[in-house]
Order: sequence, then C-alpha cells, then structure tokens
Amino acid sequence: MDRPAAPQAASAPPPARPEVENLQAYSAPLEGRRGLLRLDFNENTVGPSPRVVEAIRAIPAEHVAIYPEYEGLQAAVAASLLRTSGLAAPGPGLEPHHIGLFNGVDAALHAVFQAYGAPGDRLLTTSPTFGYYSPCARMQGMVIEAIPYRPNDFAFPFDAIRAALTGPTPGPSQAAAPQPWSPPRLLLICNPNNPTGTRLAPARILELAAASPATLVVVDELYEAFSGDSVLPLLLAGAGAEGTRAQGADAFAAFPNLLVLRSLSKTAGMAGLRIGFAIGHPAVVDRVGRVTGPYDINSFAVTAAFAALDDQAYVDAFVAEVLAAKALLQQRLTAAGWRHEGEGGNYLLLWPRARGAAAVEQRLRDAGILVRSMAGKPLIDGSLRVSIGTRAQMEQFWSAWQQADS
Ligand SMILES: Cc1ncc(COP(=O)(O)O)c(C=O)c1O
Repeated sequence: MDRPAAPQAASAPPPARPEVENLQAYSAPLEGRRGLLRLDFNENTVGPSPRVVEAIRAIPAEHVAIYPEYEGLQAAVAASLLRTSGLAAPGPGLEPHHIGLFNGVDAALHAVFQAYGAPGDRLLTTSPTFGYYSPCARMQGMVIEAIPYRPNDFAFPFDAIRAALTGPTPGPSQAAAPQPWSPPRLLLICNPNNPTGTRLAPARILELAAASPATLVVVDELYEAFSGDSVLPLLLAGAGAEGTRAQGADAFAAFPNLLVLRSLSKTAGMAGLRIGFAIGHPAVVDRVGRVTGPYDINSFAVTAAFAALDDQAYVDAFVAEVLAAKALLQQRLTAAGWRHEGEGGNYLLLWPRARGAAAVEQRLRDAGILVRSMAGKPLIDGSLRVSIGTRAQMEQFWSAWQQADS
C-alpha cells in the first residue's frame, strides 16, 4: 500500500505584504530606562497627578475581568478642550462625536493612515519630524514627500508645502494638455515640531487646510501645551466661517479636512498607560474609528484619563515648571556659547562642540542621564535632543553636560 506523502518541509514562512516585508520598524524607546534621569523621550519627568495614581489604585478587581467601558470619556475630553481653549463648558460646537479615543496618538496615526492612505497616495510632511509618520505611510504603500525645514533656523517651509498642496500652475504650453495631478491624500504637520521645536502659527495651518480641501490635514499637537499653538481656539471662535459662527455650530464645519491629535502621554505623565485623542469633523472621526478594535484602550487608561482631565492644575504647574527650566537652560547655553535650537516643546536640540555626539551621549549615560541622539537625521545630524524636566533636574543635567562635553 502506498504511504501518504510526507508533508513538504517549508523552507521559509509565508511572506507578509510587500510593503511590510520592505518596512523598517519604528525604533521604540530602549529598555532599561528606569531609575535614570530620562531626558530622551519628552515624557513628563515627575509622573502623573497623584489623583491619577489614586484613581488607578482604587480600581476594583471586577474591572479587570470585564471589558472596558468608555461612556462619558469623549464628553470629558471635549469639556477639557473647551476649558483649555478659554471657553466654558458646555461649549458650542465641540461634542463627544468630534472626539476619537485611541491607544495613544501612535495608534491614532496608524488608524488615520489605514483609513485614508491607499497604495500610491501621497503623504506630504516636513523633515526632520516625528519618526512614526513614515513607517505608517510605507505600510500603506504611500509615496512620501518630505519637505525640509529651512537649514540653520528650522523655519517651517510654508511656501513649499503650499505649492506641494496646490500643484503646478499650468503654463501656456501646458494649458492644452495638463499633466494629471492630484493633491496629497494626507498632510502631516507636527506643531510644534518634534524634534526641531519649529512653531507654525495656527492661522497658517488653517490657510493650508483651506487651500486643499481634498487633503486630510492632520495636526499633531502633542506638545502644544508648551507654546499654546493650537488650531482649536481658532476653530471654536469660528475662523473661516462666514461672519461669526452661530452658537452651537460645528467647530469643524468650515474645516472638515482638519484632524487634531492630542495625548495624555507627555504633559499629563501617562505615557505608560497609552491614551490619545483625534479631534475633528464627526465623519472623519467616524472613519478613523472604523479601523480600530472595539476595546483597544484598556480600563486602567480610561479611569486614569478621567482623573487626569479633572486635574488640569497639575498639568499647568508642570508646564510652567518646564518652561522656567527651559528658559534657564537656554540662557546658560547661550552665555556659554553652545549651539541650541528649539522654540516650542519640552525639548531642545544641543550641539556638542568638544566631542562627538555619541561620546557625549555615552558620558551623560554614565552620569545617569539619558538623551536622544539625532544621528543620521537630515539637518540635525550631530545634535542631541534633550527633554526638559524640572529646574532641579536641569541643574543636574547642566553640570553633567559641561563635564561630558569638555
Ligand atoms: C510628535 C509626536 N506625536 C505622537 C507621539 C506619540 O504619542 P503617544 O504616546 O500618545 O502615542 C509622540 C511621542 O513621542 C510625538 O513626539
């Protein structure tokens, strides 16, 4: 009797999609950072509000066993955004359906690209900027157009971005047979930009959004608390609408192609819990929400978010402390002649002068301080990005820095 054929030994596992096979994964924070002064990932260096910690401690065991519930969280986010935009809740035009909840802004970004980026579509962005936009675009098979900041002072390349959004102006010879051209599918603006600290006036972002209604303009406002540059107050005040926006009218009515990203990771000190928000036209928020799982945000993050949103004073105090520490460090660096850049955000780029950046990074690490190398990044290769903590932490950094770069 014939024996059944032995299964063929597979020589390799089945390949993933071509876009994924060719993808270089985003390199996430390294392990082993606990116990050190972490000035490498722009986190809150003192942790969340004690009310957040208390709220998590009070979670009953039953909550671990049941699926998370999100009821009321979008309303709490909307109320908080209205308050921090200088409007009293209940406010006009920003309702729960304008708010998408995500497992961190990273997950919101991923969802935006999944929902909007088809193979061959264009992502327009700046360079250098936050490192997760590119892998998100690549995994969708999108084409990336990254326009550099102005060398030396890192000013926002407004005219070049505007031109890339609106396309070639037809010359006389093209008038008869215009080249096929379509606007970018997505424009990603990080404001203020990580890592250059570049600030762009919110009104200019609205100008860009108005110039290309077919492009979804995503404004990553992760660090807006440190400069106050947000498009939300303008939208809530009725910018772009005919006359004054009617009481209760949708804040995104005039700019349905704008999506704003905010997170509780940095200022609120909850990076380990993973929760972030996408704020936009209800139809856009709905589409981005369609590509996520039903329980992507865990119950601990939900409980913590309610407590954090309820303690804005804690966040405000941390932001004020960081701004004071940043100003002091900037003064000292200027006085001592070290090149440094970074107008917005809780971080600065520093250029070592006595040694290479890698050597200074290592010497700081030996002194118990982590900073982020910008090696290989266009325009800022050779610099180190230093997150700003409290004044006491930056005193510690300053004495270590002077020794490390000597
Ligand atoms: C500009 C920018 N966007 C998004 C993120 C990710 O934020 P989250 O922790 O909410 O995923 C970061 C984190 O470093 C960031 O710098």
